Amino acid sequence: MAEDPMKGTVPVTFYEPGGVPHYASDTPALDSYGRRIDYLRISLTDRCNMRCVYCMPAVGVQFAPRPELLTNDELLLVVRAAAAAGFRKLRLTGGEPTLRHDLVELVRAMKATPGIQQIAMTTNALRLRKLAGPLKEAGLDRVNISIDSLDAAKFRQLTRGGNLDDVWAGIEAADAVGLHPIKLNAVVVRGMNDDEVLRLAELTTRYPWEFRFIEVMPLTGVAGLAEEGVVSSAELIARIEERFGPLEPYGQDPADPARRYRIPGAPGKLGFISAVTDPFCATCNRMRLTADGRLHLCLLRDDEVDLRAAIRAGASVAEVEQIIRHAVYLKPWGHGLPEGVLPTLRGMSQLGG
Ligand code: 5AD
Ligand code: SF4
Repeated sequence: MAEDPMKGTVPVTFYEPGGVPHYASDTPALDSYGRRIDYLRISLTDRCNMRCVYCMPAVGVQFAPRPELLTNDELLLVVRAAAAAGFRKLRLTGGEPTLRHDLVELVRAMKATPGIQQIAMTTNALRLRKLAGPLKEAGLDRVNISIDSLDAAKFRQLTRGGNLDDVWAGIEAADAVGLHPIKLNAVVVRGMNDDEVLRLAELTTRYPWEFRFIEVMPLTGVAGLAEEGVVSSAELIARIEERFGPLEPYGQDPADPARRYRIPGAPGKLGFISAVTDPFCATCNRMRLTADGRLHLCLLRDDEVDLRAAIRAGASVAEVEQIIRHAVYLKPWGHGLPEGVLPTLRGMSQLGG
């Protein structure tokens, strides 16, 4: 069994079928702090066709061998069990989720699962030009797209090889097929793309998109970068206000980690995600599923609960639901960045943001 989840000491919890705890069904899953957890972020693969500097180290990334990844059937079993445990929203992440074979069919099956109301995806958009239409048709609701620079050379440098034109074509395709509202993400790293913040913010004066600036987080492989590179949301807001005037606060959703604003008169919105300088753990509503089948209970802690072993030992949907409910119960209160506790086991490319 797990140790005190507050310690964040890498407890990985395993279950045998039949040895699972028992929670009441037909109630939403609540964690031990009373937070309702109903949003599952599913990493479909740890592989990616880019190598963003804030996400992966340049060399030495080990990818999970294919037999370790959940199969489509196993993923769909987890989704049914999660829906039974009260999960309502899914997000597909990676690595890069569009590298997963049968993505369109997976989306269709997930969306058809009773209880699942919304499916979003976070993508680098390199493959979205072709996939946007089929994904929309299969039931994908919307996308978040990473775009850290509007300068092709700098974009290539930040992503270690990404082609900005392909990303832009992907954004336009997503917009055209109605994967709305379109949200764009930039991780801001001092000395790399912080000089582009005004250009990126300016997009919202021309397009009805939400542009979200994310403070770089110290995950494994990039912790050094975060030490020097964090540009706080407060600093970004000050810079944007200097250029565009005072920002208007815009309808805050408590389940959304982004603090939202608008440049007065702009069709789009700005969002600021400040996990480092202004954590939003109190309203956290999410857990993550890694591509190798573990529930990762807090992005910035190592605690995990294994589902794959139980599934491969024959656990039923009802049994997996119980394990998920227990994992929710074990969810740590929040991350330990203020106390200097850093996650060490998984990099961002295994967790999907
Ligand atoms: N800190 C913050 N966000 C990150 N992402 C990747 N690495 C980091 C990091 N170190 C974000 C990317 C992408 C999402 C999957 O996670 O912007 O949108
Ligand atoms: Fe790939 Fe996204 Fe990581 Fe960039 S941030 S390397 S696009 S998974």
